[in-house]
Amino acid sequence: MGLLDAKVGLVTGSGQGIGRAIAQAFAAEGARVLVSDFNTASGEETVALIEAAGGEALFVAADVSDEGAVAGMVQAAVDKWGRLDIACNSAALSRGSGPIHEYSREVFDQTLAMCLTNTWLCMKYEIPAMLANGGGAIVNISSNASLRGQAFNTAYAAAKSGVNLLTKSSAAEYGAKNLRINAVSPGVVRTPGLEAYFEAEPDKKPGLERAAVMNRLGEPEEIAQAVVFLCSERASFITGQILSVDGGGAVR
Ligand SMILES: NC(=O)c1ccc[n+]([C@@H]2O[C@H](COP(=O)([O-])OP(=O)(O)OC[C@H]3O[C@@H](n4cnc5c(N)ncnc54)[C@H](O)[C@@H]3O)[C@@H](O)[C@H]2O)c1
Repeated sequence: MGLLDAKVGLVTGSGQGIGRAIAQAFAAEGARVLVSDFNTASGEETVALIEAAGGEALFVAADVSDEGAVAGMVQAAVDKWGRLDIACNSAALSRGSGPIHEYSREVFDQTLAMCLTNTWLCMKYEIPAMLANGGGAIVNISSNASLRGQAFNTAYAAAKSGVNLLTKSSAAEYGAKNLRINAVSPGVVRTPGLEAYFEAEPDKKPGLERAAVMNRLGEPEEIAQAVVFLCSERASFITGQILSVDGGGAVR
């Protein structure tokens, strides 16, 4: 028996990193999973990994900034398996923006769009699909950058703090309809996205590698286990929460 047996799930940005680990964990716990990413090669690779482990998955290419693609992504899960029960919105791109007086409005606008607006857009289509079947659970991927100020990462920190309040506010709207909405806030996690960030901002690497009080990076699978829990019946009375999975980074 898996924690997510008989559920139909969707994970955005599941071509690599945290999103891929979440899709794999959903499948390992018995869910059928719609894998979505704008990178087709990596998304198909995630499906192959899930199938090789005995799970069931379908890849749909979707850029989550494109409303038509988001609508099609949700519909694809409903068409294939008849409903949508659980979703994790993980797709985002992060980059250090630098000092506020040096970066352009374009960087700010793009970061908000990639991290906050896209999450809202996915929820807009996931929610009615879940309500059509009596409820469900959504987990948005936030970031510990949202919890307190983070110098030179202002646009990303502001966008992810927006994800937190989007999560809490929508939880208040849909709780009475049996739809739970939570967020997981990762600390510093070993992913291709983090490696790219370290390459772009090498001076940030030593500090970020020591961000956790446990003195190590997190692994994508450790984030995925928290998302599985929040999507499962074990979290049946939990909604509107921001759960840090950060090796204690938030208490350093
Ligand atoms: N890695 C960390 O240390 C860390 C820390 C805190 C929060 N996070 C958050 O976790 C999530 C995943 O991060 P990661 O490190 O695994 O990233 P990653 O860059 O390794 O992977 C992101 C995936 O999302 C996809 N993607 C990005 N934008 C997309 C779009 N518009 N449409 C469709 N697919 C898109 C990419 O193709 C990629 O497969 C993000 O929300 C990120 O902000 C990561």
